[in-house]
Amino acid sequence: MYMHDLIKKAITKHDLTKDDIVFLLNNDEYSEELFKAADEVRQKYVGDEIHLRGLMEFSNYCKNNCYYCGLRRDNKELTRYRIDIPTILGMAEHGRDMGLKTVVLQSGEDVWFTKERMIELVSGIKKLDLALTLSVGEKPTEEYEAYKEAGADRFLLRIETTDKELYAKCHPGQVWEDRARCLRDMKRQGYELGSGCILGLPGQTMESLADDVLFFREIGADMVGVGPFIPHPDTPFKNEKGGTLNTGLKVMALIRLILPDINIPATTAMETLAPNGQVKALQSGANVIMPNITLKQFREHYQLYQGKSSTNVAPDKSLEIVHEKIKSIGRTVGLDYGQSPRWLAERQGL
Ligand code: 5AD
Ligand code: SF4
Repeated sequence: MYMHDLIKKAITKHDLTKDDIVFLLNNDEYSEELFKAADEVRQKYVGDEIHLRGLMEFSNYCKNNCYYCGLRRDNKELTRYRIDIPTILGMAEHGRDMGLKTVVLQSGEDVWFTKERMIELVSGIKKLDLALTLSVGEKPTEEYEAYKEAGADRFLLRIETTDKELYAKCHPGQVWEDRARCLRDMKRQGYELGSGCILGLPGQTMESLADDVLFFREIGADMVGVGPFIPHPDTPFKNEKGGTLNTGLKVMALIRLILPDINIPATTAMETLAPNGQVKALQSGANVIMPNITLKQFREHYQLYQGKSSTNVAPDKSLEIVHEKIKSIGRTVGLDYGQSPRWLAERQGL
């Protein structure tokens, strides 16, 4: 009964304490009720439209060495690629011609893509009349500023975990405070700010996941993506257990409850864990899908984790699959840029 009241409170007040969140995460009997509550809040605040973002994985070079990720610097089993700028622009144009309104430029932290080259890329894409999200990692403040000026609209940078000790154990050579600085920079600069976390890291607790959820509220995130950790065989974490779809969905649902008007993607990692993972996510609080529109020949080399869903599917096909899924659950595809209501409201308040 207590749990039932807690969920009721979250639906109307959008407020939960850390203890409430931990309690809900630790109890599975109420998962379905939690998912239903998040679905209701999603419908009320962001409607039935699902916004599509065409994901372009344009380089798999990375100077970082995250213990969980297949693109880490020390993974020598990987064929590295870097798509040239004209080809990337061609992929974006094709995405637009297929009806996409937003594209996402994602890569490892690749030093070849200097500030100047990134600006060229950003400007080129903005000429195509697309909303643009960048997901290229940690940069100096003035570099984010320069991308924004060149036309970038949004940025995705997961905090991964707010547990500083755990962060240090997973990210050799990286400092948690630097990452938080990046997020605060971009919020101030007016980006539509995306963050998120990875769950199921070795030693990660429910308390620490509850802190993650509250952190997204604190930094004013406009989008939050949650992905269960899936071990990759060529990484130091290859024998670790990984996260579950259920916990992923619960964390996501809780985020929807306390941040009702943000955008939340049904992530690829969720789809990888179960064939209906994405649909389940869309019915538990999510309202965004990021179909992969990277050219087929590069796909297999962008393995963040093993068994990544749709690695062998061409752009047109991956979009078709997504449209089918959306239709099958009676939802529609958003036809505009699909900014989060939260960000739009904040703009109007300025
Ligand atoms: N399992 C799940 N997600 C992963 N990421 C990187 N490696 C893995 C993995 N093994 C996620 C990180 C990163 C995003 C692009 O991919 O959270 O921010
Ligand atoms: Fe590089 Fe990102 Fe993978 Fe870390 S998670 S190794 S920064 S691509």
